[in-house]
Amino acid sequence: MRTQVGIIGSGPAGLMLAQILHNHGIESVILERQSRAYVEARIRAGVLEQGTVNMLREMGVHKRMDAEGLVHDGFALAFDGRTERINMRELTGGSTVMVYGQTEVTKDLIDARLSAGGMLKYSAPAVAVEDYDSARPRIIYEENGQRQELICDFVAGCDGYHGVSRQSVPADKLTLFEKVYPFGWLGILSDTPPVDEELIYANHQRGFALCSMRSHTRSRYYVQCSLDDKVENWSDDAFWDELRRRLPPETAAKLITGPRLEMSIAPLRSFVAEPLRFGNLFLAGDAAHIVPPTGAKGLNLAAADVYYLSRAFIAHYGEGRTGLLARYSDACLRRVWKAIRFSWWFTSLMHKFDDDSLNHRLQLAELDYLTSSVAGRTTMAENYVGLPFERFE
Ligand code: APR
Ligand code: PHB
Repeated sequence: MRTQVGIIGSGPAGLMLAQILHNHGIESVILERQSRAYVEARIRAGVLEQGTVNMLREMGVHKRMDAEGLVHDGFALAFDGRTERINMRELTGGSTVMVYGQTEVTKDLIDARLSAGGMLKYSAPAVAVEDYDSARPRIIYEENGQRQELICDFVAGCDGYHGVSRQSVPADKLTLFEKVYPFGWLGILSDTPPVDEELIYANHQRGFALCSMRSHTRSRYYVQCSLDDKVENWSDDAFWDELRRRLPPETAAKLITGPRLEMSIAPLRSFVAEPLRFGNLFLAGDAAHIVPPTGAKGLNLAAADVYYLSRAFIAHYGEGRTGLLARYSDACLRRVWKAIRFSWWFTSLMHKFDDDSLNHRLQLAELDYLTSSVAGRTTMAENYVGLPFERFE
């Protein structure tokens, strides 16, 4: 089989890239290791930056998001017995975020891909990317137990942290940066109304907690847990009790609880692989970088990569300009590192680290400073709504 852009992975990065390319008359094939049902059931974060929302609207995959998504003008930081609101709209001159689950974004993108007649192969794991330094890179993949080849002009490695794209590059061509945090997030999804209209990030002596949501009737809550904790250790009641303890009393008193739809533990990691281009192989999304979930930058960073990468392919196919392909890695990484920094900083500010009492007081002092200074609140707000995309043309 042959195509212009071979895309490995049908997460948000691969699906968005395919949709934008399709809208510009560029053909692609997506190879996905898992089944459609598996991909559509994965539960991930739910906050879309303004730039991601704009991209989804531009690519025409926005109807359900605009109908069902919740526009949030602000969020709260709870610490030291206080709750302080960050008014994003006011502090950034009008930017907001959209609360709409990544699971829903993925479903909408799959629908758009299939109704456009685009090729999307499930249960078709790529096993290697070969000859990516040549003009005819090949993706070796499996389908129904058979070895197959997809010959492309370019390969987009959108196959997440455990994918095969990055692993197809010799180790000495990659520089890796990694930090694993000494705790995890225990999350619960429940069909209960959210405790507040906006998200609440809580720094508490017992550990971090987050109140989030998927809709007016579905909530998502998290508590920081130890790395060796197990979901089996937690009853629903134990989770709700622990969450209440970490929230301001007036918030805890309003919490409506219910049975779990899902409960899981996520590890926290910061990771970057440099560069993002190897000949005609390009990495995007989680294949290239991971952020801890504090601030919900993962999907948004994948969207920003796709913004740059799609423009580079459009300039190449539309006008024969290859300059943007050459600049992709540098342009993208400049923005990636800022999001890596923000997610690391927000994680460091909000979590409990090993009974370090000095650290906790420093966190409270920083939160006090940040929320009482317009400059501090603005820094928080402009990073949270998402840094602007650079001009890339
Ligand atoms: N062959 C084909 N597909 C693969 C392979 C492979 N060898 N390895 C992994 N995949 C698929 C995975 O099954 C998954 O569907 O690649 C996809 C990668 O999707 P994501 O992990 O969602 O990554 P990405 O599209 O970069 O989106 C980033 O998703 O992981 C979250 O928190 C992250 O929000 C962020 C966003
Ligand atoms: C979520 O709703 O899952 C969520 C929201 C905000 C975050 C992380 C996760 O920072």
